[in-house]
Amino acid sequence: MSEIDVGAAPVRLSRLRIRTVEQLGGTEEEKLPRSLGALDLSLLGIGCIIGTGVFVLTGVAAALYAGPALIVSFILAGTACGLAALVYAELAAMVPVAGSAYTYTSATMGEAAAWMVGWNLILEYAVSAGAVAAGWSGYVTGILGQVGLDVPERLQSVPSEGGLIDLPAVAIALFVTFLLASGVRHGARFNAVLVGVKLCAIFLFLVLAGPKVDPALWHPFAPFGWQGIATGAAIIFFAYIGFDAVATAAEETRDPQRNLPIGILVSLGVCTLAYLAVAAVLTGVVPYTALNVKEPVAFALREIGYGFGAAVVAVGAIAGITTVLLVLIFGQARIFFVMARDGLLPGWLAKIDPRSGAPRTATLITGCAVAFVAGFFPLGAIAELSNIGTLFAFVAVSVGVMVLRRTRPDLNRPFRTPLVWVTGPLAALACLYLMVSLPPATWIRFVVWSAIGAVVYLAYGYRRSPLRPA
Ligand code: ALA
Repeated sequence: MSEIDVGAAPVRLSRLRIRTVEQLGGTEEEKLPRSLGALDLSLLGIGCIIGTGVFVLTGVAAALYAGPALIVSFILAGTACGLAALVYAELAAMVPVAGSAYTYTSATMGEAAAWMVGWNLILEYAVSAGAVAAGWSGYVTGILGQVGLDVPERLQSVPSEGGLIDLPAVAIALFVTFLLASGVRHGARFNAVLVGVKLCAIFLFLVLAGPKVDPALWHPFAPFGWQGIATGAAIIFFAYIGFDAVATAAEETRDPQRNLPIGILVSLGVCTLAYLAVAAVLTGVVPYTALNVKEPVAFALREIGYGFGAAVVAVGAIAGITTVLLVLIFGQARIFFVMARDGLLPGWLAKIDPRSGAPRTATLITGCAVAFVAGFFPLGAIAELSNIGTLFAFVAVSVGVMVLRRTRPDLNRPFRTPLVWVTGPLAALACLYLMVSLPPATWIRFVVWSAIGAVVYLAYGYRRSPLRPA
């Protein structure tokens, strides 16, 4: 172990290359401007959470795995996220700099582990943004079809589904990237309006379909047994991805000690309630077996005779899904930014555009990657891959919070995870359980992706990191 002197605080460099909490965050010139408050953050969270998961994947999960017991899958996945959220909130408030799980891991388990978490966050952000854009495309092509403007099948399907490219998905990914590259405040205001529209769409669905629920459709309740419920939960977990995006905005938050925990917990709570209601009503108005379609929520309304209502809800869903894309691309760009600032990725990814205040290059590269994923890969497979990567990051954070309680009990913790020695292990176990409930093909892709990440780290970040021993 060696020691170097950085200003007043001596910084210890261990073989694990653990950054001290004081070391995180870069220099003043490298910092992002603080412009977001508690309301902005809650909107950012809701903007990222409610999207393709509830509007599209509920159908697949109910039809193929959980049946009407989808509501139990939502409770299971929501519980895992709630536990992880409590852990996230402690770290987010204590280490209020950009980078989320990547940053926390670098302060607890060292550079190599942090790199692997950051690498898997690409699955959570960039890859899931691809799935989200694909879900957007499903609703848009659906509504265009309803008004007689059919998009040719080859241009709305990926190669594995017999098409050429999902063009609407590519187009929306690039459009959102353009918005974000022109500055965070622009994106945040646009986000706030669209969040309102999306919540109204869900409310309208519940008001129209709620009175038509036929409890007989909830029988059999769990046609595929517990395994179906667990796999359904592992898939529908996608619907919760995003609450931690609030944490990735930590460095741009005013009074992060207060606002971050509020933003994370409020957004997760609002979304969970909405999901449980949608799951119950959706499986109560049409047989679950009919729900494996591209736009199940609009489909259900059409089935019960609300053609116009279905169109309105579809427009709201399209707007809602757009906000998810905004937040995911925003989050990914910042994770690249922080990893580059730490020397693990090329330095030009950490440049902030002086006019917009946004990490412009990181945003543009993220957007192109998202467009590629969305244009050429199938939604289901991408969503499962992002779930496994996200769950991996959550496990790392759950362990990390306990490690930091032991190694740095002295740190100021404005928000403390309640019963951390119970909550932390439960959060890690719940996320692991969802991971093992995912299909074997997803595991293979995850292992291959992680192996590529390890090679990239050894070839680049390991040699270039400022934390390498002299
Ligand atoms: N939770 C986000 C969605 O469902 C990723 O679209």
